[in-house]
Amino acid sequence: MTVRWGVIGACGIAYRRTIPEGIMRAPNAKLAAVMDVAQERVKEVAKEFGVDKCYFNEEELLKDDSIDAVYIATPTYLHHKQVIMAAENGKHVLCEKPMGMNLKECDEMIAACEKNGVKLGLGYMMRFHAYNKKIKEMISDGDLGQISLARAQLTCWYPPIPGAWRQIQNLGGGGSFIDMGSHCIDLLEYLIGSKVIKVSAFMDTLTHNYKVEDSAVVLLKFENGAQGIVDNNFNVPDLASKNVLEVYGTKGSVRAQGTIGQDSNGTISCYLQPEETGYNAAQVRQVNAGESIINDLKPINMYTSQIQYFSEAIEKNLKPMIDGAEGKRNLAIVLAAYDAAKSGKTNYIKEEYL
Ligand SMILES: NC(=O)c1ccc[n+]([C@@H]2O[C@H](COP(=O)([O-])OP(=O)(O)OC[C@H]3O[C@@H](n4cnc5c(N)ncnc54)[C@H](O)[C@@H]3O)[C@@H](O)[C@H]2O)c1
Repeated sequence: MTVRWGVIGACGIAYRRTIPEGIMRAPNAKLAAVMDVAQERVKEVAKEFGVDKCYFNEEELLKDDSIDAVYIATPTYLHHKQVIMAAENGKHVLCEKPMGMNLKECDEMIAACEKNGVKLGLGYMMRFHAYNKKIKEMISDGDLGQISLARAQLTCWYPPIPGAWRQIQNLGGGGSFIDMGSHCIDLLEYLIGSKVIKVSAFMDTLTHNYKVEDSAVVLLKFENGAQGIVDNNFNVPDLASKNVLEVYGTKGSVRAQGTIGQDSNGTISCYLQPEETGYNAAQVRQVNAGESIINDLKPINMYTSQIQYFSEAIEKNLKPMIDGAEGKRNLAIVLAAYDAAKSGKTNYIKEEYL
C-alpha cells in the first residue's frame, strides 16, 4: 500500500525538507495534495512537486477522498484545530512539534484521533539520525556505564522579524525553548532511555526586542538518576553555535556535532575508559588522549525515515512510536520548565505523564 499524503502548511519546513526528502522519497508514500494560505507560493510548490491538487483552505483538502494522511506543518497555535479537523475527516495525522499550546489542547487532539480511529504522530524526527541511533546503541549496550549527565544544545541567530510567529507568545507558545528545546528533550529521553521527572530553568530575553525568550537553559532530572541540560538561544550566530550533544557516564563519554538539527551528517568523538584507573590526584591529562572519532556512518535521512515509519504504521495498523501521548508528555515538560523559570522553583512532572 502507498499512503497518499496531503500537506497542510506546505510552504515552510514542509517545502524545505519533509516533502522533498520525506514524502517524495519514502517508498510507501505519495504526495497527493498541498495546502497553504500563501496562495501564490503554494501554487508554485504544487507545480514543483508535480501535484494537481492545490488547496487554499484545510476544509477542502480534508474533504478530498484521495488523501489517506496529512502532515501538518503550520505555526503551533494552529495544530489543535487542524489535527481535530483532520481526525474528524478520517485522515491519519503526522503533526509537527510542539504538539499544541497547552495540555488541554493535546487531550482534545488525542481524543479526536481515538474517536475517529486515525493515527496521530509527532514530528520528532531526530530520533532517526544515524549518529543518534549509534549513541543510543552505545548507551543501551552499557559502553558509557552509568549515565551521569546529558546535554543537548540547539541554537541559532533569530533577530526580530515583523509577524514571525515564533516571536509571538500566543502563536508559538514561547521562544527559543519551546521551538528548539522541545526537540532536545525528546532526543535526550530517547537516547538515555529514561523520562524526565523534574525541571528547573532560566529563561530570558537578553538581546532581541521581542517578548518571548531568546535565551533558555533548562536543568533536567531523569527517572534513572541522570542529570541533563538543554540550552537554546536565538542570540548566538549560527556558526558560533555548535549544537552539541554530550553524554557522560562512569565509563566514558560521547560528544556529537551535527546530530541535533536538520542534516543527516554528523561526527561523534568518544572516549571509552579501558578499565577503572582509580583517582588521579594530579589531574594530569591530555585533552584528546584516547579519543576516537566516528564519522563514517551511513547517513540516514530523518525526513524519509519519519514518513516511511508513519506510513508503515498506517499500512500495518501499528501504534506510532512517537504518538500523541509522547507529544503531550513532551509539552508537559516544556510547560513545567517555563513555569519553573517564572517561579524560580523546581517543578516535578506529574506521575500521569511519566
Ligand atoms: N522537525 C523539523 O525539522 C522542523 C523544522 C522547522 C519547523 N518545524 C515545525 O513545523 C511547523 C511549521 O514551522 P515552519 O518553520 O515551517 O514555519 P513557517 O512559518 O516557515 O511555515 C509555516 C507555513 O504555514 C503556513 N500557514 C500559516 N497559516 C496557515 C493556515 N491557517 N493553514 C495552512 N497553512 C498555514 C504559512 O503560510 C507557511 O507556509 C512548526 O510546528 C515548527 O515547530 C519542524
